[in-house]
Amino acid sequence: MDYENVLLHAEAPVGTITINRPDKLNALNARVMAELSQAAQDMDKDDNVRVVVITGAGEKAFVAGADIGELAKMQPVSGRDDSAFGQAVLFELEKLSKPVIAAINGYALGGGCELALACDIRIASEKAKIGLPEVGLGILPGYGGTQRLGRIVGMGLAMELVLCGDPIGAAEAHRIGLVNKVVAPAELAAAAREMAEKLATRGPIALRLAKQAVQKSFDLDLKTGCEMESSYFGLLASTADMKEGMTAFLEKRKPSYKGQ
Ligand code: COA
Repeated sequence: MDYENVLLHAEAPVGTITINRPDKLNALNARVMAELSQAAQDMDKDDNVRVVVITGAGEKAFVAGADIGELAKMQPVSGRDDSAFGQAVLFELEKLSKPVIAAINGYALGGGCELALACDIRIASEKAKIGLPEVGLGILPGYGGTQRLGRIVGMGLAMELVLCGDPIGAAEAHRIGLVNKVVAPAELAAAAREMAEKLATRGPIALRLAKQAVQKSFDLDLKTGCEMESSYFGLLASTADMKEGMTAFLEKRKPSYKGQ
């Protein structure tokens, strides 16, 4: 696929996907979503990329939502299909075998907030505004926002954010645990890269399984989840990376992981 609205940049060990429609505040139309899906797959396949960062082009927006021009035309069946397609793309992103960091550089509204919610870690610029304003347009969040937000901030706050639809600032988002960290706008890219580089020093298979284990904890009862954890633990014990990690510790040196 030729990318028109998404920029890909790989600088080992970090791959960056930039949603690039700044004149429309990076709004997610069908083409952007298709490109985002392809970009996520490309990043997953690239062995030089250990961690993926997603951000928005321009000074103002991460992503200001699904494209309202497209949404305005939807009919009941196409609306359901559009929502299901958007959800599928975000599931794909969420299931990447590598950690994904959202670098929220401005407005993250509607689908933009939902995109950030599907990432593993969220770092926001001080000028970020985050929210799910859909009810103000007579719709509800359709890319998984009603399901993921409560898992991150709890049902009471999710209910308020979804039903009121008012965006919140970065400091408030940090206070309620919606974002992991807030930094000055000029420091956002470096902060995301710093976090990505730190993750890239960890064992890649360990990261992959740890990410899956945490994600699955929301769908499993405690006992089943702990059984899964034990089997992942055993699986990691069979890897060369595990031997390298332990040996490096004992030899007082940094580990060099091969992802094997
Ligand atoms: N879909 C389509 N176009 C969008 C958009 C969206 N979600 N968000 C912004 N744009 C477009 C605007 O229509 C405008 O295009 P134009 O220059 O061709 O008229 C351009 O992006 C700039 O936006 P503008 O509204 O002029 O910027 P602003 O700084 O005055 O306001 C926002 C910024 C984010 C407050 C405002 O754009 C907004 O409310 N956007 C919609 C947010 C939303 O409801 N998202 C959820 C959708 S489900």
